[in-house]
Amino acid sequence: MKIDIITIFPEMFRPVLEESIMKRAQEKKLCSITVHDLRDYTDDKHRKVDDRPFGGGPGMVMLAQPLVDAVKKIKGRRKCKVLLMCPSGTVLKQSLAKHLSNEKNLVIICGHYEGIDERVRDLVVDECVSIGDYVLTGGELPAMVVVDTVVRLIPGVLGKEASLETESFEHNLLEYPQYTRPANFRGKKVPDVLLSGNHKAIEEWRHQQAVAKTKKFRPDIIKK
Ligand code: ADE
Repeated sequence: MKIDIITIFPEMFRPVLEESIMKRAQEKKLCSITVHDLRDYTDDKHRKVDDRPFGGGPGMVMLAQPLVDAVKKIKGRRKCKVLLMCPSGTVLKQSLAKHLSNEKNLVIICGHYEGIDERVRDLVVDECVSIGDYVLTGGELPAMVVVDTVVRLIPGVLGKEASLETESFEHNLLEYPQYTRPANFRGKKVPDVLLSGNHKAIEEWRHQQAVAKTKKFRPDIIKK
């Protein structure tokens, strides 16, 4: 998978993309991620990327020209899915992440200021994506969230593919509780069943726990 990110703050991505699983995924050539500085695509000699809104109002609006030209140049002749990170988009869920992980080429635009010129949406954006019902200062953190959720789903990125099957949101359930050594930590004991060696009983216990946890903390997803 090839992912291209368009941003006015390219440096923000380095610490996230150059650590841990994101770093290894790129080293193993399971994905290739390029961060583009939007200012490199502006026609303006002052590298301007925003202007005041027509009709008045507070804040600045991102210009259409650098964004549209950046997307067109990055895409070239490739077929790409172009996402715009913005609070009014489709809310990111595990199901959308799975869907996106099947794409070959993703281009992610990080929105900013009071928004972007609407013509960018019309001309080059396939889908607007939000990471939740709250407003951040820009689309960079949301873009990192999307990249992380999508890249970890690419086959081979995580050590054990099996762990994807039981994690939260699979089968509309949260993940069951996990324990490791010691079996007794300061008087708090690991449930006996997990030490029993009875795999069927363990599986049943885990399922019951997952259902109970989902009912308690996320009744909205269990209804589905
Ligand atoms: N930009 C600002 N807030 C955002 C959000 N919640 N999701 C995506 N992009 C954003």
